[in-house]
Amino acid sequence: MSIGVHSASINEQFNKLFSSILIEQQKIDHIKAADEDKKELLSSKLKEYEALKGRGFFFPFMASGRGHGPFVELIDGSIKYDLINGIGVNLLGHSHPIYIKANLEAATSDTMMCGNLLSYQEPYEVSKMLLESVSKSHLKHFWFSCSGSFAGDTALKILWQKKAPNYRLIAFQKSFAGRSIAMQDVTYNQAYREGMPKTIPVDHVPHYNYNNPEKAIEETIAALDNLIAQNGNVYCALTIEVIQGEAGFIYGTKEYYKAICEWAKKNNIYVWIDEVQSFARTTELFAYQMFELDQYVDVVTIGKVLQGAGTFYTEELNPKAGLIAGTFNGSIASLNAAKATIRYLKEGNFYGEKGRIKDLEQKFKAKFKELSEGSCKGKIPYFGGIGTMLSFQVGDSSVETTNKFMKKLFDNGIITFSAGKEPTRVRFLISLPILDEHIEEIFKILEKTIHETII
Ligand SMILES: Cc1ncc(COP(=O)(O)O)c(C=O)c1O
Repeated sequence: MSIGVHSASINEQFNKLFSSILIEQQKIDHIKAADEDKKELLSSKLKEYEALKGRGFFFPFMASGRGHGPFVELIDGSIKYDLINGIGVNLLGHSHPIYIKANLEAATSDTMMCGNLLSYQEPYEVSKMLLESVSKSHLKHFWFSCSGSFAGDTALKILWQKKAPNYRLIAFQKSFAGRSIAMQDVTYNQAYREGMPKTIPVDHVPHYNYNNPEKAIEETIAALDNLIAQNGNVYCALTIEVIQGEAGFIYGTKEYYKAICEWAKKNNIYVWIDEVQSFARTTELFAYQMFELDQYVDVVTIGKVLQGAGTFYTEELNPKAGLIAGTFNGSIASLNAAKATIRYLKEGNFYGEKGRIKDLEQKFKAKFKELSEGSCKGKIPYFGGIGTMLSFQVGDSSVETTNKFMKKLFDNGIITFSAGKEPTRVRFLISLPILDEHIEEIFKILEKTIHETII
């Protein structure tokens, strides 16, 4: 243990507790229907919670706190495959030893949360490891936030201060940036800001065109040139969500992103990569590294898998004192988990063309191919994605059909979520401990559910 109080007795009890918790959690190792006597408990608690919240839940889901690997238990005793993982948070799967240990270690510390004013060792160690991981870029600093949206706000403030009064921002169509007042304007989907005043100036340009890949660079560059022709060069930055999650995992090629970044550099516009969802989930720790954009990145935002969030920036963009602050860095347990997660991912065989993440991607894609060419021919018009971020379409790919399918899939034992509109996709954000036997079972359930719901 690296933090908090230590003694021989604490260490001994820590080890016992760690093993006992892990042994209990490991019992959650297969899917299972709800217990008859607990069904009412789930529906009544959810009903009450929905009234408190003021709105309903998409899935009848309330976790019991028990789960292991890809499996999660609900309070009705049912166990399901969790293929969405808190929308991308639990890359390591449920009850990973790192999570159990991080929580126990935090219990030996004297407070719950780390702050900016009076620091602890955890945020220092996490920052050091994160910055070592981006050493091929010009990124030199990291600032913690408690959400991906706030990491985005921090990025924007830094960029604005440097480029004042050039406050306009360029973003891509179909991108998602979060829910803060600023980030809802960076987000493309208008439905997410109904009734909101427009607060920040953002121009959205077309992203990589799958239907015409040869012309994709040309089209985007023409749209970018057009912005400058229309408005003058009043832009602080170009923000790129390199793997567009909410859009159903749309991404460009290395050449595409390099050309866009070159354009930005030529026009003295900073490059900000939003990796809140893609961090740690592709074939490199950062998706921008997979696209070989190291030399271009000025700002990078991350979240989710980190169990926290934050903003990387270069020396040149280091803001004046007073601009960025805030009470919290994150909880001690989360920062502990962040540190151990980064070490685990960097030291294990997860990245690269022969790593575990590529292996999982290939296994899932091979099964999708088999299904879409076999018994579900004509019913899966698309499958794709990258790394642990995979998606597919069912039937006519409408919101209604996809929602109906996902709800039936939930009843049959698999939790997913949707992405995009016209077409709507089913999104998987899978965790690393999925075994081959799990993949076999997952695809049997998918096949059954497609036959039940797609005519
Ligand atoms: C690409 C991207 N950016 C930003 C955010 C916002 O993160 P948070 O929900 O933690 O505020 C998300 C969340 O889904 C995201 O996917």
